[in-house]
Amino acid sequence: MSVQSSAKQIRIFDTTLRDGEQAPGCSMTVGEKLRVAKALSELKVDIIEAGFPAASPGDFESVKAIADRNFGPVICGLARCNAADIEKVHAAVKGADNHRIHVFVATSAIHREHKLKMAKEEIIKSAVGAIQMARELCDDVEFSPEDASRTELSYLAEVVSAAIEAGATTVNIPDTVGYTVPAEFDRLFCYLQEHVARINEITLSVHCHNDLGMAVANSLAAVIAGARQIECTINGIGERAGNCSLEEAVMAIKTRAEFFELETGIDTTRLYPTSRLVSNITGMHPPRNKAIVGENAFAHEAGIHQHGMLQHASTYEIMRPEDVGLSKSNLVLGKHSGRHAFRDRVAELGFDIDEFETNRAFQEFKKLADKKKDVYDGDIESIIMNAGSGSLGPWTLKSLEVQTHTDEPATATVILIGEDGNEISESALGDGPVAAAFQALQSATGVDMVLRNFELHSASMGEDAQGEVTVTVEIDQKSFRGRGASVDIVEAGCRACLEVMNRTLRRRSRGEDSDAGGQSAHATI
Ligand code: KIV
Ligand code: ZN
Repeated sequence: MSVQSSAKQIRIFDTTLRDGEQAPGCSMTVGEKLRVAKALSELKVDIIEAGFPAASPGDFESVKAIADRNFGPVICGLARCNAADIEKVHAAVKGADNHRIHVFVATSAIHREHKLKMAKEEIIKSAVGAIQMARELCDDVEFSPEDASRTELSYLAEVVSAAIEAGATTVNIPDTVGYTVPAEFDRLFCYLQEHVARINEITLSVHCHNDLGMAVANSLAAVIAGARQIECTINGIGERAGNCSLEEAVMAIKTRAEFFELETGIDTTRLYPTSRLVSNITGMHPPRNKAIVGENAFAHEAGIHQHGMLQHASTYEIMRPEDVGLSKSNLVLGKHSGRHAFRDRVAELGFDIDEFETNRAFQEFKKLADKKKDVYDGDIESIIMNAGSGSLGPWTLKSLEVQTHTDEPATATVILIGEDGNEISESALGDGPVAAAFQALQSATGVDMVLRNFELHSASMGEDAQGEVTVTVEIDQKSFRGRGASVDIVEAGCRACLEVMNRTLRRRSRGEDSDAGGQSAHATI
């Protein structure tokens, strides 16, 4: 079944789990994808592009797991124009009441000649065949002419006409390499509306990449020119410079409603929590000055601005922080705060966690409040998002001791507690405290790994802020990501590493050799 929307309604097609996840370092496990899909449904996106099922068995499983949960939005999967891909998408998405098959083929001269080595007519034939096949399986079929913005206009109109005749219900126009500019994209959309006979019978969609920093501007230009679906990702994550940022496009339409005279169905108060969830899972944190969800997006430093704000917020504020899900008060709890206060704050921050998770998070909060005086929203978010990540065992970090000296190697000693309650202690030397601690962990757990990336992000403010560390490590030539948080950044790194080691040991004890989605495996497009 295809989604219908009024002429004023813009559908939000989220591709965080497909195009976003394709970005280096952004791959997610099935469990992580399910958390993001649930958050996207609470954000009320219209369509979730959950993955590219033919890319790998892990991709197939995660798209299927999301579709089977039936969270509410239309669940879509991507396919090349071939029967195997289309059948895989259908098998993966059919569990959702509303599902969509998205087929694509490149149409620009550059792609035709150098990548596909296909003539114009062959490409149209392959698109038509794929759309017809997809329509036999599903009423809701989207077609994308990849690299549309660099395709000859008259040929693009021919392809789009053929796609509509073949039964596509949505036609998406991608600016695959982020090459176009708003005025040119406007012309492209106007051209299609003038030259494609039945274009009013389908939903016209836009899909922009951000190579020249214009993905949002180009998407909005397309909307002004008649597009009624925007394809976008949370925090704008995606290949290279990323995709159109969902939060920016949505807030532009909402904040400038009198200009656009359009609306989306997004619950904008879920934007900030969803952004935090995605950045926490991927370890890709938006820059501080990122529009809408950056840490400084609502901060006013300059005295003249602060003065104006005190007189009237609208002097320098075009959106209210609470409209995007940022709470006004940031300073919150301390060590005397009780369970009720903690639970209320967690709910205010937009988390919906059960009793078990609340208890676990409250214990973590108490430990943290003993170490630092003020516990900020960022700390609480960090606790919730990292809660449980290190508690599945088999190993738990009991203690970590590191010694560093500017002229000598660092030494680290870790004590781990096993599931049976036994303790193991290992020491190691390293070029620095992180290297020494990681070496000690490897000796203790018996899991060998190579550290590829160590990213540190401060969860809140001040010297005693919690550090959130995301590590990317290679184990058995596969890449895995782990997360950990602590006021001590070496300890946070150890927790992140131990999380991956524990996952590896659990997998090994189940006799598996990979965790689906935990490492990158993407089919070439
Ligand atoms: O950027 C692109 O062209 C795509 C298509 C597959 C829609 O992601
Ligand atoms: Zn794309």
